[in-house]
Amino acid sequence: MIKKGIILAGGHGSRMSPLTKAVNKQLLPLYDKPLIFYPLSILMLAGIKNILIIVNKGQLNQFRKILPEKNNLGIKIEYKEQLKPAGLPQAFTIGEKFIGKDNVCMILGDNFFYGQSLTKILKKNSVFQSGAKVFLHPVKNPQNYGVAFLNSKNKVIKLVEKPKKTKSNLAVTGLYFFDSKVIDLSKRLKPSKRGELEIIDLLNLYKSKKKLKAEFIGRGGAWLDTGNVKDYYSASNFISTIESRQGLKIACLEEIAFNNGWIKKNNILESIKFYGNCNYSKYLKSIIK
Ligand code: G1P
Repeated sequence: MIKKGIILAGGHGSRMSPLTKAVNKQLLPLYDKPLIFYPLSILMLAGIKNILIIVNKGQLNQFRKILPEKNNLGIKIEYKEQLKPAGLPQAFTIGEKFIGKDNVCMILGDNFFYGQSLTKILKKNSVFQSGAKVFLHPVKNPQNYGVAFLNSKNKVIKLVEKPKKTKSNLAVTGLYFFDSKVIDLSKRLKPSKRGELEIIDLLNLYKSKKKLKAEFIGRGGAWLDTGNVKDYYSASNFISTIESRQGLKIACLEEIAFNNGWIKKNNILESIKFYGNCNYSKYLKSIIK
């Protein structure tokens, strides 16, 4: 079982400026919760309790206010700063000590996933020994993402970062499983033309060693973009629609922790005190009724 997870919550969110000038994108509201709650909920649904959150220089205290190291979620949160953002694989050198000799799951702080079979897929795949695993999902605009090309046996034959033209519509989502070799392999990478270390180059190193596997989120699942303001609001509306209809919350961290048996009623009462009188607290009360 994978026990460690990294949320990469750095970056400048420049496509969403001026919203992101003073506040990290991952702390902006996605409907009724800060964006970071959603990727964190995915790690928790995968059963991961040891979490490293990588943030921009100078933003630690912003994050600590909402997700303190000592929390009521039954999880262990650590923080590290990304002093000079140099691409996604940098997460593994920043997280070298945290990862140690263990396998690790990384999720990008702005990725939103939803779907009934997701927890099952995550749990199934987190029993993983070595290599790397990516999660693919069809999109209408593959040129905006890392794209996977598969053969007739659903094996990855090629991965390309933001190809201008592509016959494959399978985007590589921002959720990855790696063995601890990821640290050394990340150190070998050279910056791409856009001057960054590329996750696709890292995945291609695994592929060249025949150690890359692909999994599908499935068409019943959703992977939504939060990269620009319009998509951000669409994702917010999606959450609002589902939550209003069902009366259930997506990414209620305490609910997931409670269902996982990681926290008790008492922790939820503490959380209610922490959040104060709000709808989220009302929802928490309903869980322990
Ligand atoms: C990054 C990765 C890309 C991946 C995407 C998922 O792109 O480089 O391969 O498909 O995340 O969100 P970026 O958001 O840095 O443009």
